[in-house]
Amino acid sequence: MTITKLAAGNWKMNGTSKHLSEAKTLAAMHPASSVEVLLCPPATLLASMARIVLGSAVQLGGQDCHAKAKGAHTGDIAAEMLFDAGAGYVILGHSERRADHGETSADVAAKVEAAWDSGLVAIVCLGETEAQRDADETLAVIGAQLAQSLPAGANAENTVIAYEPVWAIGTGRTPSEAQIAEVHAFLREHAPDAGVRLLYGGSVNPDNAASIFAIANVDGALVGGASLKAADFTRIISALESSSPG
Ligand code: 13P
Repeated sequence: MTITKLAAGNWKMNGTSKHLSEAKTLAAMHPASSVEVLLCPPATLLASMARIVLGSAVQLGGQDCHAKAKGAHTGDIAAEMLFDAGAGYVILGHSERRADHGETSADVAAKVEAAWDSGLVAIVCLGETEAQRDADETLAVIGAQLAQSLPAGANAENTVIAYEPVWAIGTGRTPSEAQIAEVHAFLREHAPDAGVRLLYGGSVNPDNAASIFAIANVDGALVGGASLKAADFTRIISALESSSPG
């Protein structure tokens, strides 16, 4: 099975119009790529960024969507709105949304359905806290999140899974290669479809990317801080392009 690898950048709550120049630089550096390249900026930048990256390898995604298609939900964004603004993907169930907004895996599953209904690929995030890892609960936590966050019908075309240990996000700490390998092997075994892409996320940077991409069953990365600057993100993309298949 051929899996097209994916380098995804999550800008989180960072970026105003002056940062569009980073997307412009990234698009200029990647007119084409052997991997998929994705930026998920704040929703306010999607439409203008879509014009900038047009014709390049850079695709766009949102960072969350509502479970309903439309209605009286002040401040929320529907999946169709993201699609309309130029997104092809949406990140769902990020640990920051689970923590900041109390999103449960059942909430995430409902959002995934909404994303699919609007033609978006869902990037579903899973990950254990440090306390859960210390208590040897990692695979149990990941297994439960996986089972509860993915609705029936998830497949390689409509879903990407991102393993993001909560304790590795924004901390500069990464799991050992063995720890990443263990979780990714588990995800490969339990994913609904053999071709579902499995991303690693949490303190990926230009210096550690190649060694992370060499781990079995790592099909790419979901990158936070190091995706904000084109110069950094492009080095991560290059490392993914150079990594061996599968
Ligand atoms: P950092 O790469 O900044 O650790 O963030 C990871 C992340 O949460 C991506 O979704």
